Amino acid sequence: MSMPKRAAVVGLGGQAQKDHLPALADCRLAELVAVCDVDPRRAATQADQWRVPGFTDLTRLLKEARPDFVVAAVPHHAGRAVIEACAEAGVHVMKEKPFATDAHEAVELAALCGKTGIELMVTVQRRFHPLYAAAVDLLEHIGSPYLVEGRYTFHCPDPAAGWRGRAELAGGGCLADMGYHLIDLLIWYLGLPDRVLADTSAAAAPGADYDAEDTALVHLAYDAGLYGSLLVSRSAGPKTERLAITGPHGAVVVERGMVRRLDSAGQVLESLVREPAWPCAAATQIDYFCRVLDGTRPNPSGPAEHLPHAAFLAAAYASQATARPADPKEYLA
Ligand SMILES: NC(=O)c1ccc[n+]([C@@H]2O[C@H](COP(=O)([O-])OP(=O)(O)OC[C@H]3O[C@@H](n4cnc5c(N)ncnc54)[C@H](O)[C@@H]3O)[C@@H](O)[C@H]2O)c1
Repeated sequence: MSMPKRAAVVGLGGQAQKDHLPALADCRLAELVAVCDVDPRRAATQADQWRVPGFTDLTRLLKEARPDFVVAAVPHHAGRAVIEACAEAGVHVMKEKPFATDAHEAVELAALCGKTGIELMVTVQRRFHPLYAAAVDLLEHIGSPYLVEGRYTFHCPDPAAGWRGRAELAGGGCLADMGYHLIDLLIWYLGLPDRVLADTSAAAAPGADYDAEDTALVHLAYDAGLYGSLLVSRSAGPKTERLAITGPHGAVVVERGMVRRLDSAGQVLESLVREPAWPCAAATQIDYFCRVLDGTRPNPSGPAEHLPHAAFLAAAYASQATARPADPKEYLA
């Protein structure tokens, strides 16, 4: 068996501490060799905890720790500089979603990855979860879908907190952030819509100073006749994650840890459950990325695959600003 890949984690906040650092201890094909955060105290604490060198400067880390790849879990506005530094050093990147903060940045970063030859995989962990893959097969049974309904909500007590409260830093609000997962499923299962009409609001905490939407409702339609909506909120609980796709012969409903196929009256025909719902998605994702780097697996979530996500978001925000429908394809390169 080949040596484990050398991994560094950049951005040591909530997501790195919850998922990526424990995953690097659990996964089989990579090992943590360094951590980095612009906050020196955070870098020191995590370096201590995981017994690896800690850095506040990524360029120094890349030179001294010589990782094979970097897991980038930084605020959205900081992603570009991390990818650029890695590309310059020839170091591969596993990038926390979103790929980029807007459609222009997405095109430029995709070109940079292509030019420098680095592999980049965006962490949309549902792609590595068997239930979401099973839904692809179940969709074969329902005929041509005519209705899609997505909902992803939870309650965050302070929507104004940190960089997530500022649209300019986060590249939008809940739609670009948590909504990215729902958009990824939509594009995976059904492709990019032909029209979107979006409304967004930042009204859940009156008086609080934030402009990144806490709630978004996107109507969407395809020329083939399929239409529906996505509702995303980081202020309206309870925590719910659901995507239902209906066709003439029934529906497929994906929820956390479960996928069901229903008949047209809503009776369950078959279901698959995974318990626990997310036993090891983060470690699976890292091991999968190592296989991509070895050339033994395709990259299902590379820069080119994420241009449609950026286009969807650009169209949704343009539609919100103009109160008119927008065609995401017009925002593709
Ligand atoms: N896949 C998921 O389900 C999921 C869940 C949560 C967050 N995320 C993603 O993870 C990323 C990080 O989110 P988070 O919730 O951990 O944010 P966070 O604010 O908790 O942590 C970000 C960390 O990055 C550090 N940082 C800022 N600029 C930096 C830079 N230039 N270089 C190095 N470190 C820097 C900050 O000091 C902070 O410690 C985002 O892209 C977010 O969308 C994904």
